[in-house]
Amino acid sequence: MYLRVLGSVWLTAIAAAQPPAATSAGESLYLSQCSFCHGKDGEGGRGATLARPALRHAPDDAALRLVIRRGIAGTAMPGTSLGEDELEQVSNHVRSLGRRPLPPLPGDPKRGEQIYRTKGGCARCHTISGRGGSFGPDLTEVGAARSAAYLRASVVEPGADVPRGFVQIRAVTKKGDRITGARVNEDTFSVQVRDASGAVHSLWKAELSEMHAELGKSPMPPYRGVFSGSELDDLVAYLAGLRGTL
Ligand code: HEC
Ligand code: HEC
Repeated sequence: MYLRVLGSVWLTAIAAAQPPAATSAGESLYLSQCSFCHGKDGEGGRGATLARPALRHAPDDAALRLVIRRGIAGTAMPGTSLGEDELEQVSNHVRSLGRRPLPPLPGDPKRGEQIYRTKGGCARCHTISGRGGSFGPDLTEVGAARSAAYLRASVVEPGADVPRGFVQIRAVTKKGDRITGARVNEDTFSVQVRDASGAVHSLWKAELSEMHAELGKSPMPPYRGVFSGSELDDLVAYLAGLRGTL
C-alpha cells in the first residue's frame, strides 16, 4: 500500500516534469513514419510541405486519410498499414501542421524564372508546363512535391537525392563511341539511353564493349558557385511556386 502511494506520487512528479504539450499519439506516429520525408514540422524535404492550409491531394479529411493509407502512385509517397484510429490520429496531426504557417521564402520568383531561362540554362533539360527539354524530370509540379530546402539542395548538389528510378548509364560501343545519359528502358539485349541533348540512343548490348549503370548518380551538373546567394534565393522561390494547376 505504502509503496503504491509512493509510486503514484513519483509518477505524478514525472508527469509534471514533462513539457506542457506532451506528444500526442498522432504526433509520435508522424515523427516515426512521416517526418523523415516531410520534416519535423511539416516543412517538407524529400516529401511535400505539409504545413499549408490546403493540400493538393487532400481537399478534405477523407481524402487525406486515403492519401496516407494508399500513398501516391508513381511518387515517393508510400502507403501505410496503419489502422483506422491511427490513420485518424496522424491525419489530425497533419491538419494541425497546416495551421502553423511557414515563413515566406526570401527570393523573388519573377527574377528566379529569368535565371532559370537564361543563366541557369535549366530549360535545356527540364520541362515546365509543356516547354523545355526532357532529359531531366518534369518540374511543372515540383513545388508541390518538394520543400524549398530540397529544391535548393537539388540545384547546388544534385545527386544528394536522385529520384527513384533515375539511373545514369555510361556506355562505350565496340567502335569506340561513348554515350552517357539517363536510362529510358532496358531489356536483356538492349538499352535505351537519353543523352543531355534529348536524343535517345538504342544500343544493342552485344555491340558494347563497356556499360556502367550508376544508380543514384545524377547527370545534372552541380551549380555550386554559379549563382550568387540572392540568385539562388530567387531560383528557389520560382521552383517552390511551381505547383501545377492547384
Ligand atoms: C519516403 C518519403 C515519404 C514518406 C515516408 C511519407 N511521405 Fe508523404 N509524400 C512524399 C512525397 C514525395 C509526396 C509528394 C508526392 C507528389 O505529389 O509528387 C508526399 C505527399 C504527401 C501528401 C500530399 C500533400 C499534398 O500537398 O497534397 C500527404 C498528405 C502526405 N504525403 C502525408 C504523409 C504522411 C502522413 C506520412 C506518414 C504516415 C507520409 N506522408 C510519409 C513522401 C513521403
Ligand atoms: C544537363 C541537364 C540538366 C540541366 C542543365 C539541369 N538539370 Fe536539373 N536535373 C537533371 C536530371 C537528369 C535530374 C534527375 C537526377 C537528379 O535528381 O539529380 C535533375 C533533377 C533536378 C531537380 C530535382 C527534381 C526532383 O523532383 O527531385 C531539380 C529541382 C532540378 N533538377 C532543377 C534544375 C534547375 C533549377 C536547373 C538550372 C539551374 C537544372 N535543374 C539544370 C538534369 C539537368
